[in-house]
Amino acid sequence: MYEIKRAKKRHWGRIKTLIEANPETLEQKYLPKRKEFFVALGPRPEEGGRRPVVGCVALEAHHKQRLGELRSLAVTEEERGNGLARVLIEHTLLHARKRGVKQVLTITGSPDMFRKFGFDFFRADEKYALINDLLAKEDDRSS
Ligand SMILES: CC(C)(COP(=O)(O)OP(=O)(O)OC[C@H]1O[C@@H](n2cnc3c(N)ncnc32)[C@H](O)[C@@H]1OP(=O)(O)O)[C@@H](O)C(=O)NCCC(=O)NCCS
Repeated sequence: MYEIKRAKKRHWGRIKTLIEANPETLEQKYLPKRKEFFVALGPRPEEGGRRPVVGCVALEAHHKQRLGELRSLAVTEEERGNGLARVLIEHTLLHARKRGVKQVLTITGSPDMFRKFGFDFFRADEKYALINDLLAKEDDRSS
């Protein structure tokens, strides 16, 4: 029913609309690059025309692609609860594996959802993943 495609120029407006519809959960200022996005296309409208963008996700590569960051996951309200986020997350992880990405991180308010897909709070061999949120500190200073 859904088709996952690499984002093209013509999808950018819809991607931004999807992200802007979720200001509480999605970073608005510093978006991944257009080429890092995948879009989910819904069924073709009966009246014809292009298939609508009903979801998006991005994989941002860090550190020469050793580390990937899953970002900007969004599904339109009408399509929620049908497993589309699952399709998008699994597609992103498959793509990351194919590219040789070793670890995928995500920063999210929905850790329980990501745990279903193999994400977990990172601690391996007595090492922890830590983050110093410089951006949040800058925002605090300027307010
Ligand atoms: C979060 C969001 C992407 C989920 O999309 P969706 O297509 O409804 O999700 P799915 O139907 O594919 O759900 C996949 C699984 O995650 C679970 N899930 C979905 N949203 C969840 C949430 N917010 N918290 C915990 N679990 C969640 C579902 O129950 C489902 O579990 P199951 O397969 O065991 O039944 C969608 O609600 C959205 O766009 N929200 C606004 C943006 C956002 O919060 N993005 C994520 C932040 S990184």
